[in-house]
Amino acid sequence: MRRKLAAGNWKMNGTRASLAEVEALIAAHPEPACDVLLCPPATLIAWMADRIGAAPVAVGGQDCHARASGAHTGDIAAGQLADAGASHVILGHSERRADHGETDAMVCAKTVAAHDAGLVAVVCLGETEAERDAGTTLAVIGAQLAGSLPEGCTGHNTVIAYEPVWAIGTGRTPTLGQIAEVHDFLRAELVNRFGAEGGAMRLLYGGSVKPSNATEIFATSNVDGALVGGASLTAADFGAIIAAL
Ligand code: 13P
Repeated sequence: MRRKLAAGNWKMNGTRASLAEVEALIAAHPEPACDVLLCPPATLIAWMADRIGAAPVAVGGQDCHARASGAHTGDIAAGQLADAGASHVILGHSERRADHGETDAMVCAKTVAAHDAGLVAVVCLGETEAERDAGTTLAVIGAQLAGSLPEGCTGHNTVIAYEPVWAIGTGRTPTLGQIAEVHDFLRAELVNRFGAEGGAMRLLYGGSVKPSNATEIFATSNVDGALVGGASLTAADFGAIIAAL
């Protein structure tokens, strides 16, 4: 049985003042029925981990470098995220694929680095609107999945997030049937490649998840939680999504 996961991606939002939202979230949901993860900007990881203390909320980064150390100005190694208090890292988000030209091969190398540092990799994939309109959604997602995951992925060290690019930050979501089609496809591909571990990996849906649509999305086939952007920034909205899980 896969335990549900509510993951928040703060993207490039938040300062130390925003940690008040984390305190409010913990106060409102001291014993959540699902796993909870918050991925703030790197500047806040250590502060957030410190503020969370022993409460059941994990902290993650939003990217890492494929190398463990070295001359890579501005980059952060997976081991450094772990040292700051992170247990997870988001990799291959469509915003990084678009803004920084990240390829499947780069995401794959970063996933290896995350695993080597003991982090859970939250590997993101999803089609653009043009790709969906062209009827190539499953082909695109299958190629991203194959290229972005290294050998050795397990239900413990890897989470997959399906985020249709056209649904991110737009208020538009796929139909439940479209989500189920992709998640069922991802599950079959994962089991085919990783066997029982592919059956144990959690599949998150991401893209305009909010309190009002969380319940029906979470009830959809092979949806094991959500990767939430905008609605993860406030304790009220993210708390409602946690409650829906
Ligand atoms: P929104 O929830 O703001 O649409 O963002 C989704 C996302 O990209 C999470 O990684």
